[in-house]
Amino acid sequence: MKTHKPQESLDKKMKSFEKLQKMFNGYHSIKFMLLMLVTIGIVYMYGDKSVLMFKVMQEAEIDDYSFEGCDLFNGSWVYDNVSRPLYKEKECSFMADDYSCEKFGRTDFKYQYWRWQPHGCDLPRFNGIKLLETLRNKRVVFVGDSVGKNHWVSLLCLIDPWITEPSHKVAEWHGALITFRASEYNVSIDFYWEPLLVESNCDDPVKHRVSDRIMKVESIEKHAKEWIDADMLVFDSYSWWLAPNMTLLWGSFEHPNRTVIESDRVIRYEMALRTWSNWLETHLNRNKTRLFFISVSPDHKEGGDWGKTMGENCYNETEPIMQEGYWARGTDTNLMRTAQSVVQDLGNKGLNIELLNITQLSQYRKDGHPTIYKRHWVPPTEVELAHPVWFADCLHWCLPGVPDVWNEILYAYIRYKL
Ligand SMILES: *[C@@H]1O[C@H](CO)[C@@H](O)[C@H](O)[C@H]1NC(C)=O
Ligand SMILES: *[C@@H]1O[C@H](CO)[C@@H](O)[C@H](O)[C@H]1NC(C)=O
Ligand SMILES: *[C@@H]1O[C@H](CO)[C@@H](O)[C@H](O)[C@H]1NC(C)=O
Ligand SMILES: *[C@@H]1O[C@H](CO)[C@@H](O)[C@H](O)[C@H]1NC(C)=O
Ligand SMILES: *[C@@H]1O[C@H](CO)[C@@H](O)[C@H](O)[C@H]1NC(C)=O
Ligand SMILES: *[C@@H]1O[C@H](CO)[C@@H](O)[C@H](O)[C@H]1NC(C)=O
Ligand SMILES: *[C@@H]1O[C@H](CO)[C@@H](O)[C@H](O)[C@H]1NC(C)=O
Ligand SMILES: *[C@@H]1O[C@H](CO)[C@@H](O)[C@H](O)[C@H]1NC(C)=O
Repeated sequence: MKTHKPQESLDKKMKSFEKLQKMFNGYHSIKFMLLMLVTIGIVYMYGDKSVLMFKVMQEAEIDDYSFEGCDLFNGSWVYDNVSRPLYKEKECSFMADDYSCEKFGRTDFKYQYWRWQPHGCDLPRFNGIKLLETLRNKRVVFVGDSVGKNHWVSLLCLIDPWITEPSHKVAEWHGALITFRASEYNVSIDFYWEPLLVESNCDDPVKHRVSDRIMKVESIEKHAKEWIDADMLVFDSYSWWLAPNMTLLWGSFEHPNRTVIESDRVIRYEMALRTWSNWLETHLNRNKTRLFFISVSPDHKEGGDWGKTMGENCYNETEPIMQEGYWARGTDTNLMRTAQSVVQDLGNKGLNIELLNITQLSQYRKDGHPTIYKRHWVPPTEVELAHPVWFADCLHWCLPGVPDVWNEILYAYIRYKL
């Protein structure tokens, strides 16, 4: 199996040159050496026309990477302050205040320097141009909750340095839908807010902090028609299901003909996922659309899980958990299994769907959350300020950080596993 060394610096001026060097060190095929000679010749003749050189180097990049037989989700975090982070927080045009931990005062930066190393192979190097070329004329939609948005923003930040012209990369808000367009490639990468997948009273992308969550168990059409025509869909939905009670509703919000308070998470999660999967089964063009389902993104709200005092959480954590196979009690494996079985059923019915099992690898990263270093939409009270543990966000992820790895894995699937 040939593998790429996952080394990448995004310093723009050095990018092409480094590429050349790395390829020189990394590959030994005669075909490649010939391409190198041609490239060097062109660079020699055209001087500092790095754009040209860049294009030539793209041609030269070897495409026979494969991760067949390698479990990308089983591995360990390796401290690597040479090739990480893949972008700088301040330089990302699409950064959001929810994930910009440095901007909001975090001063330990080690969390940005961890690379995910699967045991059996290397992840391919992320190449934004190659990704956009693969996605040319296509529409990708991330559908889900705020962790899904975290994931989507990470992808935009990864792509950002590869498109130098600002007018060629534009994000726009249309209610629950945020669209990103890379116009040179006619690629759209959108995010659609739909935290429970089915319709609910939490569907407002801004005002969704309601105390009683009500979901319309059998209704998804209003949402689904916004993304069903996409070429690729990336779903996630987890943390909203953890509420102790939720109201299930049949009929309309105005004229409900039945409501039930459901305390069992698995039951209501399964009902919603069935509505979702039935919709996909009947409405999706399965020859066209590729589906990914992102498994549970674990939180670190209970420090007792990794040996802290009960009641403490991820606040103040600066190191990942290094114990291989670490699993927190709070991570709901029943919900995970429910999603796995629904996804598997869809796969058996001939839909092109993959579950990206990022739970374990993310679980190690108790250091990766914003804690108090983010914009708090509800400002902390005096009492909270005196007890940072009380208002620390241990659910979302700082960027650069953990979701970048989810995207490196997604990238591997998009480019190398059809
Ligand atoms: C992960 O890989 C290690 C080493 O190859 C192996 O011992 C272990 O069983 C694997 N774990 C899982 C969950 O597959
Ligand atoms: C990377 O980390 C090592 C070990 O902590 C340190 O000695 C080195 O100075 C760091 N290099 C950079 C570029 O930060
Ligand atoms: C641009 O991409 C969209 C899908 O996002 C596709 O429907 C359209 O045909 C593409 N336009 C061109 C000119 O290829
Ligand atoms: C959940 O609903 C049950 C049944 O209606 C009720 O007894 C219980 O108090 C509720 N729990 C919470 C935390 O609201
Ligand atoms: C509830 O409402 C839906 C449509 O709003 C209708 O199709 C269904 O038959 C109703 N069920 C009952 C039991 O009235
Ligand atoms: C999907 O592909 C199959 C097999 O190639 C073909 O028989 C079928 O007509 C296609 N369906 C659509 C909707 O394009
Ligand atoms: C956080 O870490 C600092 C420095 O290690 C320590 O002084 C402080 O007591 C810690 N606070 C909490 C709440 O753990
Ligand atoms: C996902 O990973 C967890 C932990 O490594 C494992 O227990 C579970 O079986 C995996 N699920 C799938 C569908 O591979």
